[in-house]
Amino acid sequence: MKEHVRVMYDEAQVASRIAELGAQISEDYQGKTLHMICVLKGGVFFQCELAKRITVPVTLDFLSVSSYGSGTSSSGVVKVIKDLDESIEDRDVLIVEDIIDSGRTLSYLMKALQNRNPRSLRLCTLLDKPDRRVVEGVDVQYCGFVIPDRFVVGYGLDYDQRYRNLPYIGEISFDEE
Ligand code: IMP
Ligand code: MG
Repeated sequence: MKEHVRVMYDEAQVASRIAELGAQISEDYQGKTLHMICVLKGGVFFQCELAKRITVPVTLDFLSVSSYGSGTSSSGVVKVIKDLDESIEDRDVLIVEDIIDSGRTLSYLMKALQNRNPRSLRLCTLLDKPDRRVVEGVDVQYCGFVIPDRFVVGYGLDYDQRYRNLPYIGEISFDEE
């Protein structure tokens, strides 16, 4: 099978949308310190670019969960692989994720983090595929782009661990050779 990647949002489009999100978040968190938690590995490119566009004080932490095998469909199993380094108690926390698909990962994560008593807990995702949602109650406060049910790569998103480093968001397709 041959893989093709077609550009969905080019580098400039992604950059300008992230700048808009950064401006909005900066306004919403006036007077506060924002604790950004990146969901590894996919969220890392987005987190870096977004953090640079935020003008209130920012602190960063990272966690890693796995919900997928190596294919393109969800296993439904969420496992914490790397936990946070710091406590989130009494902090204004923003989770930064690459994409919300079934919602399983985020539903699990939001509940787990809420139990640690943050002052506030919000969710920012670069991409959202609402048509794919199987879990209720995942509130997305900040979203880069709402996309249809397509498998996308680049800007942190992988197919079988590859393509994360593409500077744009693309749709991957597979042709018979
Ligand atoms: P969920 O638990 O089904 O919402 O899955 C979320 C995770 O699945 C994301 O953080 C991604 O790692 C992965 N994922 C879902 N859709 C895509 C996609 O289109 N491309 C790459 N990864 C995806
Ligand atoms: Mg991910």
